[in-house]
Amino acid sequence: MATIRFIREDLEVQCNPGENLRELIIKENLKLYGLKGILGNCGGAGQCSTCFISVEGGNKNSLSPLTTVEEEKLKNRPENWRLACQTLIKSSAVILTKPQSPPSDLEDLKKISENKKLPR
Ligand code: FES
Repeated sequence: MATIRFIREDLEVQCNPGENLRELIIKENLKLYGLKGILGNCGGAGQCSTCFISVEGGNKNSLSPLTTVEEEKLKNRPENWRLACQTLIKSSAVILTKPQSPPSDLEDLKKISENKKLPR
């Protein structure tokens, strides 16, 4: 099992390695999309660039490598951003949903998370 810690929601979710991150977020009823994505998203096909998440912790192999779709769509985005629909979980990680509109207390949330051990 892997643990995904969602720092905005202060939630840890157990999942199986190989699970798709977008599907996990939707299954847990978390908010993945901003307004643009709510109004219209591609349903996980890697085409709309609205399912951004940022990786805030874990090891560098916690998630599947960038897909060619992500390499194209994330060209001008921070290095730790991913498209949730293109991302498979390999082991435990810390995730921020909707990094394009970060919470005002993001630095505090990151510090709190850093002080809590993440299961492998
Ligand atoms: S849901 Fe459209 S790119 Fe991920």
